[in-house]
Amino acid sequence: MDLFEYQARDMFEAHGVPVLAGIVAHTPEEAKAAAEKIGGVTVVKAQVKVGGRGKAGGVKVAKNADEAFAHASAILGMDIKGHTVNTVMIAQGADIAQEFYFSVLLDRANRNYLAMCSVEGGVEIEVLAVERPEALARIAVDPAVGIDAAKADEIVATAGFSAELAPKVAAAIIKLWDVFVKEDATLVEVNPLVLTGAGDIVALDGKVSLDENADFRHPHHLELEDAAAADPLEAKAKAADLNYVKLDGEVGVIGNGAGLVMSTLDVVAYAGENHGGVKPANFLDIGGGASAEVMAAGLDVILNDPQVKSVFVNVFGGITACDAVAKGIVGALAELGAAANKPLVVRLDGNNVEEGRRILNEANHPLVTLAATMDEGADKAAELAHAAK
Ligand SMILES: Nc1ncnc2c1ncn2[C@@H]1O[C@H](COP(=O)(O)OP(=O)(O)O)[C@@H](O)[C@H]1O
Ligand SMILES: [Mg+2]
Repeated sequence: MDLFEYQARDMFEAHGVPVLAGIVAHTPEEAKAAAEKIGGVTVVKAQVKVGGRGKAGGVKVAKNADEAFAHASAILGMDIKGHTVNTVMIAQGADIAQEFYFSVLLDRANRNYLAMCSVEGGVEIEVLAVERPEALARIAVDPAVGIDAAKADEIVATAGFSAELAPKVAAAIIKLWDVFVKEDATLVEVNPLVLTGAGDIVALDGKVSLDENADFRHPHHLELEDAAAADPLEAKAKAADLNYVKLDGEVGVIGNGAGLVMSTLDVVAYAGENHGGVKPANFLDIGGGASAEVMAAGLDVILNDPQVKSVFVNVFGGITACDAVAKGIVGALAELGAAANKPLVVRLDGNNVEEGRRILNEANHPLVTLAATMDEGADKAAELAHAAK
């Protein structure tokens, strides 16, 4: 989950990273009041989860509260790279002497963390990384050690900070590492990290991505979610603890195990080529325990997707045997009643498959078709979706 800048700012502050005052506003009036409260020069900053806001006109200096009002009027409602600005942050204006860059992120390819740092910040770091890669220090961070004082010194030395600045920047980097580890982030980026005229190091911008797999350790992270931006079906699935991703097609897919569901998406897309180009409508892994409850929750999400025309349930019985899954399907259909209104193709295989098929045959639900193989099931589901289009 990516955070807004103001959320990153608050998180930085909570971990002792030096930041400036910042107040969120949703109207020009609120912006003016915030600027009055902060006093002096402020900066009105669009809060959208995309970079390059400054260049797009979403970051404007206001000399006084009236100017903050005017800038907020212009920025609120603005479209920045497809993101509508609903919120601005009124930030205390910094007296910038120099701009630097720092980030730390999860480096999956190297099974490591990677810190990046440059004495040239504020610019487009991607451009710098391509055109003058030597200007961007890249230092691997051992997860077992993290960024301790020695590592922070190594980072600032490699980035080429002066002897005077190095210890100050290193201190900020250690605090930013705290944010990264203690909040279970996968990215913490500050661009620019600045030196002020008074000689202080301050984080002027903040980009934080949190690892949702660690949400259970951070109940307060749930409050950071942008409910307005969430896909309603994905939100519903999340509330039911389902691993669901909305896609664009017409064939709803339910399976157990992420690998099986991924290959089911491929097989459905392939079968769709013979049936008007229909495609999978979602990824949904109901995991190991395919109880009636979980099946009902999954079907409920999928059947509520107006794009879905048919559903392919592809289950390989392992620890959860096919008879339990079959009972789950029958129970789910009973539970959903009239809400179950689209054809279901079910392919069961694996542990106790005969009993599973027997249960479904006996239930003889008018919407359910049994398929013997995965290919056959995908083909049938694609055909039904095409027919209903
Ligand atoms: N509080 C502030 N005071 C003074 N200048 C700022 C402040 N916040 C941002 N800026 C300036 O605006 C530029 C862009 O702002 P930033 O927050 O980095 O947005 P983005 O990276 O999305 O363009 C910064 O590089 C900095 O020069
Ligand atoms: Mg920035």
